[in-house]
Amino acid sequence: MTGDRAEPCTFVIFGATGNLSINKLLPALYHLEQAGRLADRTRILGVGRRDWDDAYWQQQVRTWLEPRVRGGLDTEVWGRLATRLRFFRGDLRDADLYPALRRHLEADPGYCMNMVFYMSISPADFGAVTTGLADAGLNAEEEGWRRVVIEKPFGFDLESAEILNHRLHQHWKEDQLYRIDHYLGKETVQNILVFRFANLMFEPLWNRNYIDHVQITHAETRGIEERAGYYDAAGALRDMVQSHLLQVLTLVAMEPPANLDAESLRDEKVKVLRSIRPIPKSAVHAHAYRAQYARGEIDGERVPGYLEEPGVPEHSTTETYCALKLFIDNWRWRNIPFYLRTGKRLAKNNSLIAIRFKHPPQQLFRETHIEQLKPNWLLVNIQPNQCLSIELQVKEPGFDMRTQTQRLDAMSCGVSYYGLDAYEALLLDVMNGDRSLFLRYDEVSWAWRVVDPILKVWAMERDYVPTYAAGSWGPREANRLFQREDQSWRNLLEEPLDDGKEPCPN
Ligand code: BG6
Repeated sequence: MTGDRAEPCTFVIFGATGNLSINKLLPALYHLEQAGRLADRTRILGVGRRDWDDAYWQQQVRTWLEPRVRGGLDTEVWGRLATRLRFFRGDLRDADLYPALRRHLEADPGYCMNMVFYMSISPADFGAVTTGLADAGLNAEEEGWRRVVIEKPFGFDLESAEILNHRLHQHWKEDQLYRIDHYLGKETVQNILVFRFANLMFEPLWNRNYIDHVQITHAETRGIEERAGYYDAAGALRDMVQSHLLQVLTLVAMEPPANLDAESLRDEKVKVLRSIRPIPKSAVHAHAYRAQYARGEIDGERVPGYLEEPGVPEHSTTETYCALKLFIDNWRWRNIPFYLRTGKRLAKNNSLIAIRFKHPPQQLFRETHIEQLKPNWLLVNIQPNQCLSIELQVKEPGFDMRTQTQRLDAMSCGVSYYGLDAYEALLLDVMNGDRSLFLRYDEVSWAWRVVDPILKVWAMERDYVPTYAAGSWGPREANRLFQREDQSWRNLLEEPLDDGKEPCPN
């Protein structure tokens, strides 16, 4: 697979030896190398505290990549990638690092003067590193472009996000900033736009007249792994909802943009976020539910509870599960609930957008065996299966008038091991200066406004958090968010809904 090469650049990774770099960035760069997308002059410079030289760094990267790349490490691809890898030793909090980095980059003509600075570091250091780079003059675009990629979370709440944004803008222009949300790089997430706007037949149905409610779920079997330091301060609402799930919601709910350029797309997303009905503090419990995983079993293995994970404070009430009900107060969606849900240590890994249509009128089938017509569902499975499908009612073969549910799958609906990882697409976009799939600050800020009241109330209620068993589908109490009794969580693509019961009991 080859395509156009990206613009050449020096790709500088701050936090080069951390989790994100090992699990996502370096494998993505390898796959871009494999696909022939990296320009000849592109180099990858890891910045870290370890006392490593280029040769040792290359050796390390090779060990990290071996178990992580698709189809095993290809010696030829690796050979090409290895020649690009350099290491620069330094402590991010040491102000001398930045002028030294600049001297290093300028001393070797092999470094391209187009530069990406990737903040694969603790959010607490975003401000200091970007300021350090700017003070050393590395933000100036005289000889080439300079871009900063900022990982989530962008701030800790609305106020801190404002402060961080202000600080960044003191030294960087908006078009140099790439606020990444890797969910937007996922193939099926991008497919929402194509599906909605490249097909005529859904648009007339895509509104409050035909849609009963929308569910957006991200379920993981993983626990918090080694990330207690970050996760315990963040919690599921900040970690998944404020960023990834609200982004998915905007794509499902937005109006068609004038075109696909970055600003038109982002204008429409912001309009959705601005239209979300604010949740007053007094209504937080009616709109949001949180819980924490207790011990349980996943795939036949006993797993510890959150409080037993290494690094988690003894009495932490941080949520590892949360569910939310939101309303979008505009003409298209007024009074249609959007249910968002995410959790760690749930029964299965699955990310699903499930759109339920309203019940058709029963009248015509009154005299038949059909007791209750089932509504249509439109399902967009983001991962592990990449799938778009529609559930329809058809006649069951036989003498009687009965219905059965059939699914029409618009994609292969398989697990695509060879599909692109979200980071591959996004890193390519950064190198090519395409910001459509990156967040503009007003998106971030409006997303904080949605969750801020919930965060504030939960922050005050620190005595107790409900729990759910690891390996379940989360706490039953979260069902109280549903507007009506005939609404329930849709966990998986292939759930039989025929008996109307919860198919995957807790
Ligand atoms: C990250 C969160 O942004 O997204 C993680 O910090 C979460 O907690 C992850 O596990 C989920 O993304 P993916 O692509 O692994 O499903």
